[in-house]
Amino acid sequence: MWDYSEKVKDHFFHPRNVGEIPDADAVGDVGNIACGDALRLTLKLDNGRIVDAKFKTFGCGSAIAAASALTEIVKGKTMEEAEKITNQDIADYLDGLPKEKMHCSVMGEEALEAAIADYRGFEKAPAEEGAIICKCFSVTDTIIERVIRGNNLSTIEQVTNYTKAGGGCKSCHPDIQRIINEVRGAEVAVAPKRAKKMSNIKKMKLIQETIEKEVRPVLMLEGGDVELEDIDGDTVYVSFSGSCAESPGAKATTRSTVESRLREFVTEELVVEEAAS
Ligand code: FES
Repeated sequence: MWDYSEKVKDHFFHPRNVGEIPDADAVGDVGNIACGDALRLTLKLDNGRIVDAKFKTFGCGSAIAAASALTEIVKGKTMEEAEKITNQDIADYLDGLPKEKMHCSVMGEEALEAAIADYRGFEKAPAEEGAIICKCFSVTDTIIERVIRGNNLSTIEQVTNYTKAGGGCKSCHPDIQRIINEVRGAEVAVAPKRAKKMSNIKKMKLIQETIEKEVRPVLMLEGGDVELEDIDGDTVYVSFSGSCAESPGAKATTRSTVESRLREFVTEELVVEEAAS
């Protein structure tokens, strides 16, 4: 089960600086409602320092906590100081985020970068200027490269956790792997791990247990849910409800989360698909 720090819970239940500054000096918009996450950051400056920061987000509890933390971190800083803030700084301020939720800290860093670009009169932030690698979540090669370097990532699953890229149809996986190889060097391309052998009965029992104990309680905490519908070989069919079914992006994120938990607790061969309704 995802382990939220006390600080994440505090910023989720009591978010700081919610709203929008009407006469903001800088506005940073990132994300896409259709993808399940979006964040608007507005900043007010006085004498070259950020004197106020507010946010609006359509996202999960971790997105709210990360945006709330970001507004606290940037206050009092110059733009030069603010542009050094990384997603890891946001996660550290919250005493960490579950690895599956690190994309929320990256969204905060992107919103800040977009606000700084807006303040300086640029039309686009650097992260927006790269080539789109993941069409499902509109993630560019620039942002993928940055999170790989900044967070020492070496697998596609990690890139998905940090950016959502690769968490949908998976057609971008070869491109993500290519970028990982380019950034990290071909020698770190990891060989696939050996599958664990287990009986079908044990596998089905473990799948049921993992979904009930490791997945559903966390999804329900954020107003969503998933139900096991069928198992056919290594393919697990599930149905989504609540916030997990609100958009194609929310479904893709949930599907990816369920799959990563099942691969962690059962076997790496498992693939999760949405059951036909
Ligand atoms: S294009 Fe990246 S998951 Fe579909």
